[in-house]
Amino acid sequence: MNIVDKINKLKKEKNAVILAHNYQLPEIQDIADFVGDSLGLSIEASHTDAAMIVFCGVRFMAETAKILSPQKIVLLPDKNAGCPMADMIDAESLKSLQAKHPDAITVCYVNTSAEVKAHCDYSCTSANAVKIVQHILLNHKNKEIIFIPDKYLAQYVSAQVKRDFIFWEGYCPTHARILPDNILQAKKMYPKAKIIVHPECRPTVTSLADVVASTEGMSKYIKKSPETEFIIGTEIGIIHRIKKENPEKYFYPATEKAVCPNMKRITLEKVLWSLEDSTHEITVPPDIIKKAHLSIERMLQIV
Ligand code: 13P
Ligand code: SF4
Repeated sequence: MNIVDKINKLKKEKNAVILAHNYQLPEIQDIADFVGDSLGLSIEASHTDAAMIVFCGVRFMAETAKILSPQKIVLLPDKNAGCPMADMIDAESLKSLQAKHPDAITVCYVNTSAEVKAHCDYSCTSANAVKIVQHILLNHKNKEIIFIPDKYLAQYVSAQVKRDFIFWEGYCPTHARILPDNILQAKKMYPKAKIIVHPECRPTVTSLADVVASTEGMSKYIKKSPETEFIIGTEIGIIHRIKKENPEKYFYPATEKAVCPNMKRITLEKVLWSLEDSTHEITVPPDIIKKAHLSIERMLQIV
């Protein structure tokens, strides 16, 4: 039996589902039951009937799945698959910031630990950040907004809703590798191509784009678009998915350097070992689950 057959056999025996983020290696995307962005994966995790979720992504995503389905076993095939941006803020530093702005509403990007989420009012993903903040502004017109931890996403959303936020100095090191010059060079080489970038990119990059979207938003836009060439400003793993969905279209990464080493930690072997030995189980203390659930649930209610 080859490794993929072994994974599929074990998956059935254990009533497991494999969820994979759009940045996963091609072979992981190909064996997954569901491939999506952070929002899609959260929704899938909350709806699945499976007893076990093998999460091919990074820790905060697996924690989000656990918060939404505490009765299920959630496994992360590599326990070191973290997110440097999520690690740029902890609960203690957030509490000190909140103490300085006691009436502010705190919005956290889903790229945060469960403990940090437990201290936030709303979670959001890149697919719905603008919508979540618009909802808050409608209901709490005069309140200050603390938006953590991604300063670039915060700046993007702040410009869209025309309101200043209190933000944190976090950022994604992978998206920060995409520079305005990369976009300009790519556009010179492929003048007809549409430029699509992720809101985790620097404002100097998002300002050059035709479209700013989450990874799922990119996939939807490309499927509908009559255009045939696209410059992609995000982690290059997504190109496998969009190429599969649009074999007749052409995709050019803004830079080949936009690779998230944490996303690439998950391999077929690790997925197999994870199913064989039920490793590495994600646990979140019940009091944190209860509080963090509230901020995620508020997001899901709005979208
Ligand atoms: P989305 O897939 O939600 O757009 O998020 C990108 C990301 O960097 C996840 O870590
Ligand atoms: Fe974190 Fe960036 Fe990797 Fe996403 S791409 S997991 S934000 S480091």
